[in-house]
Amino acid sequence: MSETVEKIKVTIDGNTIEVLPGTTILNAARMVGENLVPPPAMCYYSSLNGSGGKCRTCLVEVSKGSEKDPRPMPKLVASCSTQVMDGMEVKNNTSDKALEARKGVVEFLLLNHPLDCPICDQAGECHLQDLAFEHGLAHTRYEFKRREFDKVDIGEYIKLHMTRCILCYRCVYTANQLTNQREHGILNRGDAAEISTFIEKNLDNEFIGNVIDVCPVGALTDKTFRFKSRVWFTNPMDATCECSKCSGEAVVWMVGNDIARVTARKDKFGEVKNFICNDCRFNKKELTDWNITGPRHISRDSVISANHYEAPIPSHTILLNNA
Ligand code: SF4
Ligand code: FES
Repeated sequence: MSETVEKIKVTIDGNTIEVLPGTTILNAARMVGENLVPPPAMCYYSSLNGSGGKCRTCLVEVSKGSEKDPRPMPKLVASCSTQVMDGMEVKNNTSDKALEARKGVVEFLLLNHPLDCPICDQAGECHLQDLAFEHGLAHTRYEFKRREFDKVDIGEYIKLHMTRCILCYRCVYTANQLTNQREHGILNRGDAAEISTFIEKNLDNEFIGNVIDVCPVGALTDKTFRFKSRVWFTNPMDATCECSKCSGEAVVWMVGNDIARVTARKDKFGEVKNFICNDCRFNKKELTDWNITGPRHISRDSVISANHYEAPIPSHTILLNNA
């Protein structure tokens, strides 16, 4: 007979929800649904073990620790790595302290970040851009020289713009956990830290393209798509193909009748659950490579969901699929 685990109650911004013990505040907030905008998360990624706890964008105020010990927590906590307790009460968007702290975190993340959104491929789907729009200052107080790096080709398909990197570690965990050998990491520490491949090794593993999708900013870019189009001029379509390496379920981003890029499918939190292989991502750019099933619903609250993305499927596509 299987044991039933008793759920515990947590209240976030006035919304009470029951969750399993061990759930983090961030995941509990994500489970609440439409009534609550969950805390932002730049480094946590639910499918990557060890992610979270690096960027501090997800800070929240715990105004009541638990039913047993109702004292508030003395400091703001990282919601991605703090587990809920029974009776806990959390202030997320209703906490002036948390909102003030997020402003500070955005300011720190932008200390060295170039203001190159107008030429960055990630513009329109960049989590840092959204975060800066929601919580950032219109000016910087930083007076020192920003870090400078040359752009680096890491492998056949990926270009690294280290100036844009926020050192979230997501790409490192992706490489560690999705591919069969460790490919790259963060060298040095503090303000000398940087993403680097080991001993000049290229990122050429067959699932390494997923680092582009998990990168919350435009630090890792797809060399087959760079500078081809702004993302808001493309039409994302759900598409499938026969693939022996991955699920073959992807999104093709079309410009007219051409497939400009292929990505994995992201959920409303911007996370990929089904990673795709390099072949699907970089080498299948013909309409005949894909069975296009319909417009991709983009539920993320960003400029990419503010346009025309659910227009009818072009008739040539239906013809091709039925041919
Ligand atoms: S390159 Fe992107 S995914 Fe990797 S650590 Fe930097 S910001 Fe994070
Ligand atoms: S998402 Fe929680 S610390 Fe980065």
